Amino acid sequence: METRILDGRALAQKVNQRIKATIESKGLSPGLAVILVGEDPASCIYVQKKEECCESVGIRSFFHRLPATTTQKELLNLVERLNHDPLVDGILVQLPLPEGLDATELLDAIDPAKDVDGFHPITMGRLVEGREDISPCTPKGVMRILDEYQIPLEGKEVVIVGASNIVGKPLAMMMVNRMATVTLCHIKTKDISVHTKRAEILCSATGVPHLIKRELVMPGAVVIDIGISRWKGRTVGDADTEGLMGVASAITPVPGGVGPMTVAMLMENTLILHALRHGIELDW
Ligand code: GUN
Repeated sequence: METRILDGRALAQKVNQRIKATIESKGLSPGLAVILVGEDPASCIYVQKKEECCESVGIRSFFHRLPATTTQKELLNLVERLNHDPLVDGILVQLPLPEGLDATELLDAIDPAKDVDGFHPITMGRLVEGREDISPCTPKGVMRILDEYQIPLEGKEVVIVGASNIVGKPLAMMMVNRMATVTLCHIKTKDISVHTKRAEILCSATGVPHLIKRELVMPGAVVIDIGISRWKGRTVGDADTEGLMGVASAITPVPGGVGPMTVAMLMENTLILHALRHGIELDW
């Protein structure tokens, strides 16, 4: 069987071009505030990518790089200030935060109208109800890739490995909203292979290199690799991509799969929040 490569990088470029064209043609000025606390190396790279993408599509960015010694109170004050800043449409607190800071309290403090990451409990609750006008960027990027490649979800067996609030849980909900049958595996799942081998669409978001090997995948399955980690000096995903060639019918590569789509969806969410706040119709 030929294994199709689902090119997230190319799709992200297309999405970003549409965002840029919309901003230019309508004369919009969306703004994104990003808060990065400390110097987690992966977070620094992600935040830099977000900054570059803002610049390239014409979103004004307000980056707050703060030392790991920043207090919870200082962060709450900053979020409160950004909640009231008319130039800011979206507020993102890069996770994970350094030890001692309470991410939940900070995410709860973001005005839901500026919840660009979709992590606020109100936004999450709306997602559960099937209202997905704003949804978390990584799962949204996964769904967009599946749509682009016309991979149907209705009635499909979907297995997700990794039950984080950022990816696994919202992705499960989005799959249910499309009428897929969803199994969500996590760290306490006794034997993930029992589940993964049944999956028609297998999504993995664990950060464990090469977790998803050939023996765990049903022939013809679509594999969505959401993990990202460093292994022997290389950036790799959760899937043993080489081992899956000829087994999976399609796979997202790492790098160049879900990662670029996460950033593109962040740009899209920023533009959507800007349009909602200003009562602007986005005709797409
Ligand atoms: N850390 C890893 N992924 C994400 C994300 O999508 N948003 C935020 N805020 N932090 C992250």
